[in-house]
Amino acid sequence: MRNPSPSQNAEESHASSPAKLTSIQKEAVAKGIDLNALPHHVAIIMDGNGRWAKGKGFARLLGHREGYRTLRSALLNASELGVKYLTVYAFSAENWRRPEDEVAGLMKLIETAAKDELRAMHQNNVRICVAGRIDHVPEGLRKALLHGIETTKNNTGITFTLAINYGGRAELVDAIKAIINSGVPAESVTEEMVGQHLYNPTHPEPDLMVRTAGEMRWSNFLIWQSAYCELFVTDVPWPEFSKKELLEAVATFQKRTRKFGAVVE
Ligand code: IPE
Ligand code: IPE
Ligand code: MG
Repeated sequence: MRNPSPSQNAEESHASSPAKLTSIQKEAVAKGIDLNALPHHVAIIMDGNGRWAKGKGFARLLGHREGYRTLRSALLNASELGVKYLTVYAFSAENWRRPEDEVAGLMKLIETAAKDELRAMHQNNVRICVAGRIDHVPEGLRKALLHGIETTKNNTGITFTLAINYGGRAELVDAIKAIINSGVPAESVTEEMVGQHLYNPTHPEPDLMVRTAGEMRWSNFLIWQSAYCELFVTDVPWPEFSKKELLEAVATFQKRTRKFGAVVE
């Protein structure tokens, strides 16, 4: 695979130290995955909770609860595999259109998860970030998120970003407002400047975007940052997403030729 921006240094190189590999890394190597060419930033559109629940005769909220369990293991797997950034779509700016009880249940579930998982995440050296207009989420959830961000801000393991009340267009509108407010003349606006005004300006762009439950669309997720990321869509609904699908996504990513508009022989 051609990846013009590999950022591995000798210390991060896994190939020379097989004894130190985690179990998921050993599985990855057995599947032909090159640990020195992993996607740096994986973004996931966690879709299909409702359909999964419906298929089993459960209420939609049960699907979201199961989705939370999946997320816990996906974060652990991504981290142990060696992915540096994981960003997940937990609630879109458009999801407020759902029935009130589903929205309230989701907010409560995310708040409970944020509180219950903090200790383990901190112990695992996870750095928590959020993306989205969190000023507009319920106060208890907002406080739990801000506490998580503050507690883990100096951690050096995987950066885990929860996109909540997130919309890609809203993010661009917020960036444009900030640029205008800074008094920059229109002629001076550049792509770099837009990037610097996004919610998490220091995060690298995702290089792999995964969507579960078969839908072939972005649904307003990271629309600026994903301009050149590789897409992997699986039919598996989010509650059933496992290590197997994660490794399949990475293996598929490594078979792609990334061209960024240029000619690659
Ligand atoms: C994704 O699952 C979770 C959220 C959007 C919060 P859905 O709830 O969209 O599941 P489907 O698409 O209805 O199956
Ligand atoms: C995208 O899924 C949002 C999240 C996964 C949080 P949706 O289920 O809301 O997307 P659409 O409505 O199918 O486009
Ligand atoms: Mg959906």
